[in-house]
Amino acid sequence: MAKKVFSGIQPTGEVHVGNYVGAIRNWIKLQDTYESIYCVVDYHSITIPYDAKLLPQRVLDLGATLMACGLDPEKAILFVQSSVPEHTELTWLLTTITSIGSLERMTQFKDKSSRQKGNIFAGLMSYPILQTADIIMYKADLVPVGEDQVQHLELAREITRRFNTSFGQYFPEPQPLLTSGAKVMALNDPTAKMSKSIEGSYITLTEDPDSIRKKIRRAVTDPGPQGGEMGPGVNNLFVLLEAFAPADLTEQFRDDYSQGKLRYSDLKNTLAEAIVEYTEPIRERRSELLGKPAELKEILAVGGDKARKQARETIRDVREMMGFQMPVR
Ligand code: TYM
Repeated sequence: MAKKVFSGIQPTGEVHVGNYVGAIRNWIKLQDTYESIYCVVDYHSITIPYDAKLLPQRVLDLGATLMACGLDPEKAILFVQSSVPEHTELTWLLTTITSIGSLERMTQFKDKSSRQKGNIFAGLMSYPILQTADIIMYKADLVPVGEDQVQHLELAREITRRFNTSFGQYFPEPQPLLTSGAKVMALNDPTAKMSKSIEGSYITLTEDPDSIRKKIRRAVTDPGPQGGEMGPGVNNLFVLLEAFAPADLTEQFRDDYSQGKLRYSDLKNTLAEAIVEYTEPIRERRSELLGKPAELKEILAVGGDKARKQARETIRDVREMMGFQMPVR
């Protein structure tokens, strides 16, 4: 049977070039070859403090941004997690076969809980169970993500195995699918990953050109090409150049680097212009889409209908396998 792809992204702010290079550009490629399902994971986004009034617009913004990047709702299913309530039901069922020890070991949980002031809520810890439910609900084989999600996928496989051994072989074990830019680093600190939660670390896909130029100019590099192993800051600029500039240009800069004659200011100028040029049509398409909110909502709702049809079948089977026999009317 043809392989199936699933992935998700949180509506927690603007999409940055790390999200794009690590995940979204792969989603767009995969939609031509695989049955693909992509999800705006709004239930995940409420595991950190958020403003309920802003959430609806964030969901729409993200839907528009994904489509502006080239995600085609005719080729892939694009939907919003909360429009398929079966995700929460499957999450509960999986909660009963997930070990607390595994959840506590998750780097993302440790990171986020250490930054949280006050109470740490159970949702933050259960986050990877909801993520597992998202993926296996559609019996996905491949999950295009950035490197930071690999640990969550290991846990997803662990939970899937436990389900299959306890209740009968049913779900495939999902595998992560990484790109060469699976870990884009912070511009202002190339030892940390680019992240929405680190100010100055990221460039968004909708950022204005001058701000893009400024951030690239300030990006941390090293004192100069030393030959041999490339420093993490310069390497990161090359990862971005590969994603946003024509291949021959990147090749030329690589040659210059290995010959020790690369000037970082040239690399930065070229990269900044490449990002500006690449993201301009995305910015335009996004605002066009956002200009017609009713149409946008309808596209997402249609995606939700398609996803829900599959989710209902899974839930029907899982309920039966787990011993729930009462009809749902
Ligand atoms: P989120 O919303 O944090 O990030 C979306 C995608 O962007 C990738 N990413 C990066 N890739 C490279 N370099 C970076 N600096 C970088 N920062 C982020 C992430 O790896 C991700 O692929 N837990 C997921 C959302 C999720 C999900 C799912 C993913 C919920 N359910 C089911 C896959 C399948 C997350 O936090 O994504």
